[in-house]
Amino acid sequence: MANIINGKEISKRIRQQLSEEVAELKSLDITPGLAVIIVGEDPASKIYVRNKKLACEEIGLFSAEFSLPANTTQSELIDLIEVLNQDPQINGILVQSPLPAGLDEAIVVHTILPEKDVDAFHEQNVGKIMIGNFAFLPCTPAGVIELIHSTGISIAGKNCVVLGRSNIVGKPMSMLLLHENGTVTICHSQTKNMTEICKKADILVSAIGKPKFVTADMIQEGAIVIDVGMNHDENGKLCGDVDFEAVEKIASYITPVPGGVGPMTITMLLKNTITAAKMQNQRKLF
Ligand code: GUN
Repeated sequence: MANIINGKEISKRIRQQLSEEVAELKSLDITPGLAVIIVGEDPASKIYVRNKKLACEEIGLFSAEFSLPANTTQSELIDLIEVLNQDPQINGILVQSPLPAGLDEAIVVHTILPEKDVDAFHEQNVGKIMIGNFAFLPCTPAGVIELIHSTGISIAGKNCVVLGRSNIVGKPMSMLLLHENGTVTICHSQTKNMTEICKKADILVSAIGKPKFVTADMIQEGAIVIDVGMNHDENGKLCGDVDFEAVEKIASYITPVPGGVGPMTITMLLKNTITAAKMQNQRKLF
C-alpha cells in the first residue's frame, strides 16, 4: 500500500514559514502585494481566485482583486496591467486563465512586467526556466517538485514520465525534473505505447485532465505517482487523472485528489510573490 503524500499538510508547513518571512519583511516596511485579475464569470476561476485571496490574507500579504466583466476589451485589460506594472504596492500580477474569447492570452501575459510575473508565464521567464536560471518557478510544477522532495527520494537518474504537454504544467514540469537530473519522457495524445512507457516510470506525473485515465496496469511496482488532474467522475465527484484506489496498491507514494497538488500550487504563488517583493525592494534589504 502506497504512502499518501499529504499536500495539505506540507503546504501548511511551508505557509507557516512564509508567514514568518512576511512578518520579517513587514518589519523592514515591505508588504508583498499580489494583484489578481479575473475577467468574466467562469465559476471554477472564481473559486480559484477566492482561494488565492484567502491564502494571501492568511500569511499577511496584501492582495487586490480586479473583477472585470466578460465584455472587457483587450486594450482595457492591457491598460489595467500597465497601471499595476507601475504600482509599487503590487509586486506580483496574475491574470486568471482561461480568458473569455476575444482576449489574447499571449499578448496579455506579455504585457505583465517579467519581474511581476508570479505565474512564470511570460516568455522571458519561460526562457529562464529552460536554461535553469530562474527567479520564479511555475507554481504547479514547483509544487510537484516539493511533493517529490517530501518523500526523501532523489530525482537524479530516475525515469520520470510526464503525461501532458501544456505550457502551464507538462512542459515546465519536464524541465524542472530534467534540472534535477531525471531522465524525462513526455507523453501526449499522439504517443504510442503509453502503457509501456508509463510502466517504466520511477516517477509518474499526470497532467492531462482525464478522469481515472492512469490505471494500475500502467504503474511500475514502487513508483511515485503525482496526480495534477482536477476532474469530475461520472457521479460528479472531484477526482484526478489517476485511478487512486487501484494505483495506491502498487505505488510507493501517491498524491490524493483533493489534498495533493492543489494546495501546493497556491503556496508556490505566495512564495513567488514574496520573491518578487524582495527583488523589487533590494535597496531596503541591504
Ligand atoms: N488557471 C488555472 N491554473 C492557473 C494558474 O496557475 N495561473 C493562472 N493565471 N490561471 C490559471
